[in-house]
Amino acid sequence: MAVGRRVRYPIGRRAVTRAALLSAPTVLILGRPGLGKSSLITRMCVGLAGFGVTPIILGDLKGEHVALVEALNGNVVRLGRGKGSLNVLDQGVSMAAAARLTGQARQHLLADSLGRRLNMLGALVELNRRSAVTDLEEAVLVAALRLLDERHKPGDAVIADLIAVLEEGPDPVRRVTLSRDRDDRYREAVDPIEASLLALTDGALGDVFARKTTVPIDLTRPLCVELASIGESDTKLAAAALLATWTAGFASVDARHALADAGLEEPANFFCVLDELWRVLQASEHMASRVRALTRLNRQSGTSLAMVTHSLADLSGGLAERAGYVVAFGVPSSELDALETIVGLSQKERALLVGWASPPTFNVELGRESDPPGRGKALIKIAQRPGVAVDIQLTRAEKDLHNTNRRWEMT
Ligand SMILES: Nc1ncnc2c1ncn2[C@@H]1O[C@H](COP(=O)(O)OP(=O)(O)O)[C@@H](O)[C@H]1O
Ligand SMILES: [Mg+2]
Repeated sequence: MAVGRRVRYPIGRRAVTRAALLSAPTVLILGRPGLGKSSLITRMCVGLAGFGVTPIILGDLKGEHVALVEALNGNVVRLGRGKGSLNVLDQGVSMAAAARLTGQARQHLLADSLGRRLNMLGALVELNRRSAVTDLEEAVLVAALRLLDERHKPGDAVIADLIAVLEEGPDPVRRVTLSRDRDDRYREAVDPIEASLLALTDGALGDVFARKTTVPIDLTRPLCVELASIGESDTKLAAAALLATWTAGFASVDARHALADAGLEEPANFFCVLDELWRVLQASEHMASRVRALTRLNRQSGTSLAMVTHSLADLSGGLAERAGYVVAFGVPSSELDALETIVGLSQKERALLVGWASPPTFNVELGRESDPPGRGKALIKIAQRPGVAVDIQLTRAEKDLHNTNRRWEMT
């Protein structure tokens, strides 16, 4: 089989359905910064949009995908301090979809919605206090979230309401703490998680995630959730914002698919982009399992996923292995062993990848560095098959849409 020809539309339905080449429509894009990973995303989005797939950029920390999404006539949602907010307890989309469904489909959607909010809250708490949420705390959160669902209209409850439930200590929450009628035991059980939640509403995170959602996620057009105001140095907020965006994005995509499965909406295909994945993974050791849970909840059919990172170091425990294929740009030799466990690498392929990661030379005439030698060069690997080496030539339109060096060129 002519592998090279078949993967010309890298993540398209063609590769998954027609050629039956990929086990999952998930791609892992790996490579040193500046070599063209995000530019490849631009290429894929444009191509897939042409095939009727809607690109969804879930979290753009550099604002580098905004021009693309605007050119595709999509929506740009801006989140950050003093900008838009995304209520992490908002399950409005899932609830609205669930209201149109019946039976198992409805139950699945509701269970997923609860699981997702729990995962997101757990991740936020873990980012903030840097220790894991305990089983007891998780049980407390589940009971409290269930109560919130009964008491509030979908999308209305915010973290402050959750804290109020814990403070009040109603029976269903009290029961899981085994405190019986003893107040001191109840307080002992819930105080740590309540304190962590309070810290969330107070700190930098609160501004963005503890208020009501300002702009709901709309999947009828391409979407870019822009987080550029968060700043590169704000590690915790950047990680939290990405996670929250992924959670809300997947919830909306799943709700949309559930409606299509029930024949209530036209089937739709989405291409979800998780760029700068490493920022979440590096923020805390607990994040790999949070991201895993998040992507596990995601329905596979009709959605393809691109995970972009510059290192496999933090991608432990199955996240990388879940990728149907890998596109590797230049990487330092320290990455090769980890990559080899996913796709297998020949000596030649190893040499190619390390060569592409060579630093650029200094161009005396221009008074600046030349382009990196590995820019635009990548190896497409599907499982243990030999890789397909490609040299990505950007068109003028693509260059204009995606130019992260623009800031420097003007000076
Ligand atoms: N194939 C390519 N040919 C020429 N320039 C490229 C190519 N890919 C990326 N670039 C340029 O290199 C810079 C970095 O690309 P980017 O996609 O942001 O890299 P990464 O996401 O890997 O950090 C951008 O200015 C982009 O326009
Ligand atoms: Mg990038």
